[in-house]
Amino acid sequence: MATEILENEVASLPAAAVRLQERIGNRTAKVGVLGLGYVGLPLAVEFAKAGFEVIGIDVQAGKVKQFNQGRSYVKDVADDVFGPLVKSGKLRATTDFSVITELDTIDICVPTPLRKTKDPDMSYVVSATEAIAKYLHPGLLVMLESTTYPGTTDELVLPKLQESGLRVGEDFFLCFSPERVDPGNPNFHTKNIPKVVGGITPVCTQVGSLFYKQALETVIAVSSTRVAEMVKLLENTFRMINIGLVNEMALMCNRMGINVWEVIDAAATKPFGFMPFYPGPGLGGHCIPIDPFYLSWKSREAGIEARFIELAGYINGQMPEHVVDRIQATLNDATKPLRGSHVHLLGVAYKRDIDDVRESPALDIIHLLQKRGATVTYSDPFVPKIRVDGIDLTSQDLVNSATNADCVVVVTDHSGIDYGDIVKRSKLILDTRHALKGINSPNVIRL
Ligand SMILES: NC(=O)c1ccc[n+]([C@@H]2O[C@H](COP(=O)([O-])OP(=O)(O)OC[C@H]3O[C@@H](n4cnc5c(N)ncnc54)[C@H](O)[C@@H]3O)[C@@H](O)[C@H]2O)c1
Repeated sequence: MATEILENEVASLPAAAVRLQERIGNRTAKVGVLGLGYVGLPLAVEFAKAGFEVIGIDVQAGKVKQFNQGRSYVKDVADDVFGPLVKSGKLRATTDFSVITELDTIDICVPTPLRKTKDPDMSYVVSATEAIAKYLHPGLLVMLESTTYPGTTDELVLPKLQESGLRVGEDFFLCFSPERVDPGNPNFHTKNIPKVVGGITPVCTQVGSLFYKQALETVIAVSSTRVAEMVKLLENTFRMINIGLVNEMALMCNRMGINVWEVIDAAATKPFGFMPFYPGPGLGGHCIPIDPFYLSWKSREAGIEARFIELAGYINGQMPEHVVDRIQATLNDATKPLRGSHVHLLGVAYKRDIDDVRESPALDIIHLLQKRGATVTYSDPFVPKIRVDGIDLTSQDLVNSATNADCVVVVTDHSGIDYGDIVKRSKLILDTRHALKGINSPNVIRL
């Protein structure tokens, strides 16, 4: 059931909004999704499932081809759901941006990475906005979903759309609605994660909220695009800083000979005021290591140094090096030098049960190990090959590699692995994820 949130419904709506609301309400609105990746594809699927005709737009011809063949390339969307929607004509994709002239709504789901300097790289959002501006027409609802700094929608997107002479809130409608999807999460997905939406004007918020309510379970309207942008950054900064804190705890506990995992598990028994976060080999993925730096960049402009973010970023950034130091110390204790040793990484995806290696700490760990002269192999059931320092590595048989390696390192705690068996086969095994919880064996070393 969609949540009713439109307490402040606008009394008198402009004609374009009335028409659009009608088309949204009776499912005749044509829905566009620009950027068909981890975020855009599941979103397109939800609206097609809700009965809308959905057209995806992407710059990658290969992706568009696969999409139109009904083959899902996003693990959380099964082919047997995706294929029939494509076959029925409810869902299709194109590289031709002129299709925007036919659309009633368009969601922008393009990447927002960082530059090497840790400044926001807005080039994808800019080029997506320019493409929409070219085909903007009265009655179009535009929503930005890409994670970004507060002010992006009103300072960057809006002026480009207004160059057309069309008026926001009257002729066209513009909202920011952060995407909160968590790939690989078995309980929460696009449909049942509450959707926050803030418009440039109250009419924009109203139309945007109505739109999302058609396909998603819960919609939370907020007062502005800036609030909606900041919501996402608060969520991800909260995670990043708390992970930084437990990573620092892990470093302290290591020096003091205390098992940090046991500490966290015991602390988590407190029924109020504590939320467990877990240390690991470093941050990964497209969100947690990146988004807080969008905020620190913007807050510098406002004259405030985001000190928590910088500090947590520093501590989290040290973790791959710490893991490699631990591998080296562990091998030294076994009177083996790291140079010339065979180190096998169990898992390279940035988190459990997904195939995404973007920003994965495994890449840094492999780079550092190779720099220190180790021979590195990996196995990952979700990642058949990776490229590190320009060299392709392919996933190896785990059982053989674990038996042959001088040290195995659990970098990703994928489920479906017989960890007990791997411990038995390994000479030494360093667990950076607490995947070996409950396994007590002299060859097990914990982060
Ligand atoms: N992946 C996640 O778990 C996640 C979760 C929440 C929020 N986000 C945010 O959502 C946004 C998208 O992330 P993603 O993981 O889906 O990225 P992605 O790289 O998987 O997909 C982005 C898609 O956009 C396409 N694209 C790039 N420029 C384009 C353009 N100008 N026009 C049309 N298509 C274009 C790319 O070809 C790609 O298919 C980012 O801002 C990200 O931070 C991601």
